[in-house]
Amino acid sequence: MDDGAQVLFAFADGVERSVTVKSNETILDAGLAADLPLLFQCKSGSCSSCIAKLIEGETRQAAGHTTLLRSEYEAGLRLLCQCEAVGNCRLELGYDSEAGSVRATKAKAFVDEVEKIASNVVRLRLELAADNWVDFRSGQFFQLTVPGVGAIRSYSPATTPRELPMLEFLIRLLPGGVMSQWLTDQATPDDIIDIEGAFGAFFLREKVRAPHILIAGGTGLAPMLSIVDELRAQSGRKPPVLLSFGCTDPDALFGLDAIKLRQQWMPGLTARISVDNGATGDLLSGNPVDAVLAEDVSDPNTVAYLCGPSRMIDAAFARLEALGVNPDNIFAEQFVSSSETGSNP
Ligand code: FES
Repeated sequence: MDDGAQVLFAFADGVERSVTVKSNETILDAGLAADLPLLFQCKSGSCSSCIAKLIEGETRQAAGHTTLLRSEYEAGLRLLCQCEAVGNCRLELGYDSEAGSVRATKAKAFVDEVEKIASNVVRLRLELAADNWVDFRSGQFFQLTVPGVGAIRSYSPATTPRELPMLEFLIRLLPGGVMSQWLTDQATPDDIIDIEGAFGAFFLREKVRAPHILIAGGTGLAPMLSIVDELRAQSGRKPPVLLSFGCTDPDALFGLDAIKLRQQWMPGLTARISVDNGATGDLLSGNPVDAVLAEDVSDPNTVAYLCGPSRMIDAAFARLEALGVNPDNIFAEQFVSSSETGSNP
């Protein structure tokens, strides 16, 4: 008889819940069956939404492997959709028990506006259809179904839940990409698009008042604009915020007016804009990681949010850790190639 193992989930807000996990059952499946508010999306080990930290006990990989880096695995990180319990264990979740309580929902939305805003970026503005609704936290992402094709792509809104039923996405145009082709050749106002969400464990931890460092590469700017707006909307003293944003060259830059506007609204917001090639005027030469300086990390409680290509994320993690940011205070969302998983945040 399989009595299973007792797995205790400790949420960031102090809430603890325990479930029985049978052998050959993933910890995520057992938690969801018990109606725990766990974040997840792909259930296949590729999105990292279900990440948790093993504090006590032992787990084994359900599929015999993990997509985590060896260093992450050795540091105790586990993807709950990919692991089973070997005896009783305790897992720590990096989010509070309310974060996963909002389940992803499907909705229909109308295209409101499609505008090319840089050499390879389109802004897509959607309005939810009547009687349709979604919920999200700044930084999370939605899955959009490409009309007429059925392929699914993932993007984070640049807007906040306050702007619902409007949602705005900044979408990188990829050569031959099905979403890119639809946006450039076919999309017109009032087209209907299916969306589902929100997903992901990358979102603003709203209660933190420490200095924030936001590092964005390319369309990784979208969730950062949402996070800045959410910080601005919080009551009380606003934390100092450094937004370091970079693109390959000046033609690829976008959103600069939106950033300037937010600086007027929020005097504590500092922006550094970098390009790899062709920097002139106020633009910095280099990447958004190099633009973060030692003096930017003067508070040991500094919190950092990173969104961009994996190489940028790795470099940013290393730099921030070297500058003294606690790794537990660094939250990241990395672009995943659409050819691999259908995601291109
Ligand atoms: S739900 Fe586990 S990695 Fe995506």
